[in-house]
Amino acid sequence: MFNNNKEEYWENVHSKKSENEVSWFQKLPIDSIELIKSLNLNLDANIIDVGAGESRLVDNLIELGFSNIDVLDISKSAIEKAKQRLGKKSLWVNWIVSDINEFVPMKKYDLWHDRAAFHFLTSEKHIKNYISLASNYINDNGKFIVATFSSNGPNKCSGLDVIKYSKELIEKTFEDSFDINSHFISNHKTPFGTFQEFLFASFKKK
Ligand SMILES: C[S@@+](CC[C@H](N)C(=O)[O-])C[C@H]1O[C@@H](n2cnc3c(N)ncnc32)[C@H](O)[C@@H]1O
Repeated sequence: MFNNNKEEYWENVHSKKSENEVSWFQKLPIDSIELIKSLNLNLDANIIDVGAGESRLVDNLIELGFSNIDVLDISKSAIEKAKQRLGKKSLWVNWIVSDINEFVPMKKYDLWHDRAAFHFLTSEKHIKNYISLASNYINDNGKFIVATFSSNGPNKCSGLDVIKYSKELIEKTFEDSFDINSHFISNHKTPFGTFQEFLFASFKKK
């Protein structure tokens, strides 16, 4: 089911490092939270956080009152650590251990959120697969938020090559199924005191 190397790589990262020892850590994922709030979704909206890792976005979504949250990551350790952090509240979340390229959704989503997972897809095949998955499994009127390294961002994330996106490139990448609603640049301060420029883009289904 998994691409073994990729799975092993991420398993190693998440099992060896604590949440604040990775560059992408955010105590409060404020950009995602504010964007999601601005979408005025119903509290029973079907939401998925793709490549969520140990992100605290899920904690905040629960706090906001959302009741249908899926959290997906390729790493079992990441999912286990997020579950442990949430304690009993973890029972309110549907946890999925899967490579996004192998994921077969059981439902359609009203919100698909991805911060710093899509940009690891560097082959045309995997990018096309992701686009088709998002297109097929985001509801009509559904929303799609994707955050990647911007054109000014680093070339690598967690030691792996990434594709950096400008507003034009991300818009073109998803243009067949999605219209861009808004976008902004966010300068993320890593736990090591360095900065990484992200591009956040919010789309709606065509
Ligand atoms: C840079 S981290 C970002 C984590 C989280 N979204 C955040 O903003 O804190 C990338 C995450 O994507 C996961 N990941 C990488 N490739 C993946 C894939 N093909 N399918 C699912 N998850 C993947 C990794 O395990 C990791 O947790």
